[in-house]
Amino acid sequence: MNASWTTSAPARPALPAPDTEAVRARDRRHVWHTWTPLAADRSALTLSHGSGHHVWDIDGRAYLDASALNSTCGYAHPHVLRALAEQASRLHHFDLSVAGHEPAGLLAERLAGHLPPGMDKTLFVNSGSEGFDAAVMMAVSYWAHLGRPRSRLVTFARSYHGATLLSRSLSTLPRSTHLLDPPVPVTRVELPLEPALLRREEALPVLLAAFERAIGDDPDDLPAAVVVEPFLNVGGAVVLPPGFLRELRALCDATGTLLVLDEVFTAYGRCGAMFAARREDVTPDVLVSSKGLSGGYVPIAAVTVGQHVHDTFGRDPVIGGLRYGHTTSGHAVACAAALATLDVLEKEDLPGRAERLGSGLLGELAPLTGAGGVVDVRGLGLILVVETASPELATRVLTRARERGLLLRQVGAAVMAVPPLVIDDEGAAALAAGLTEAVTDVAG
Ligand SMILES: Cc1ncc(COP(=O)(O)O)c(C=O)c1O
Repeated sequence: MNASWTTSAPARPALPAPDTEAVRARDRRHVWHTWTPLAADRSALTLSHGSGHHVWDIDGRAYLDASALNSTCGYAHPHVLRALAEQASRLHHFDLSVAGHEPAGLLAERLAGHLPPGMDKTLFVNSGSEGFDAAVMMAVSYWAHLGRPRSRLVTFARSYHGATLLSRSLSTLPRSTHLLDPPVPVTRVELPLEPALLRREEALPVLLAAFERAIGDDPDDLPAAVVVEPFLNVGGAVVLPPGFLRELRALCDATGTLLVLDEVFTAYGRCGAMFAARREDVTPDVLVSSKGLSGGYVPIAAVTVGQHVHDTFGRDPVIGGLRYGHTTSGHAVACAAALATLDVLEKEDLPGRAERLGSGLLGELAPLTGAGGVVDVRGLGLILVVETASPELATRVLTRARERGLLLRQVGAAVMAVPPLVIDDEGAAALAAGLTEAVTDVAG
């Protein structure tokens, strides 16, 4: 283990020093930060640039970044940068409701090659939230097209599917609730066990029974779809029991209910495989992916469906096709960035690396459990979670880590480490040492 983890950052590339106070003052005056209390000052950490798994702030301090949910290739990856520049100078975009372009076709084909057979039609949008909205609209439309309308959805009460009205209507998380009624009926499944127990094999029958009750067997009230994340990210950094997706697929099949997987966070290597669906050999009817698809270089999300879902849209009564899209859907530069990101993922086997590094890190961090306010250590691929006794304790761990040059994320009482998938062995050792030190400093 590399104890001198703060010194492992490469030398800061030379950049002109900004007027740091002016930069911070401008941010405080004009930028409305997402999901942030008005009293908080996000400009305290103002970033300047990044390289690999490191970022630098405007004061020149280096940080190991284990906070970037969408980072696959890390910062300033030359292959992705080249692809962005080349596509921008050739054809930056053209509206896909009017014409086609090569990057969209290449990317949709590439995704089909990674997904189970039959999942080979992709709609591109700009964010995970939009992708999720489109997925739900497709599921409900599917039943209308078949002449057997269903609109009810089954999901986790602690799910997070996005910030749009529909996606946030599904969840009961206090931060994302709103004042309007959900546009469709929703049956929400509460977690039957604490997260520390839920990740175990023994939890599987208990969790499945809860979903079976939620689906029900009333032929007049069957759900259009069950919609789940393979790992509850915002809902508490919850790892689900192995086999859950496979068994949930079987439950859905028993009533013909569609299975919509929200892999916005888990896909493209983060979960230790290209898709969580592939870890369990599951074929969903609809799969939403985003974050790692372009590694965060540009906004893009993909909604990939089985041919059986797609083909019903020929029966749409208004245009005989999909009545949905955005002017920037399938943006050519975004598709090119995603293709380059996939090149890196495939060539460097980043999903395999995430699995190997993630399980090594989990082994190193596991002894923290029980020591001074640590309730559980869990993970999936390169998502590492240290659940503490309280949100206040988790905040203190994050603050301590940041003082020492390590950026982490907080989800309630849980501390989450999500480094870029290109992090190397030395970086992973530095992450383990930094996280251990921050936890023991604060909680030990
Ligand atoms: C599982 C999941 N679904 C959907 C979303 C929403 O994606 P976006 O923020 O790109 O709209 C997120 C974002 O964190 C997510 O984690």
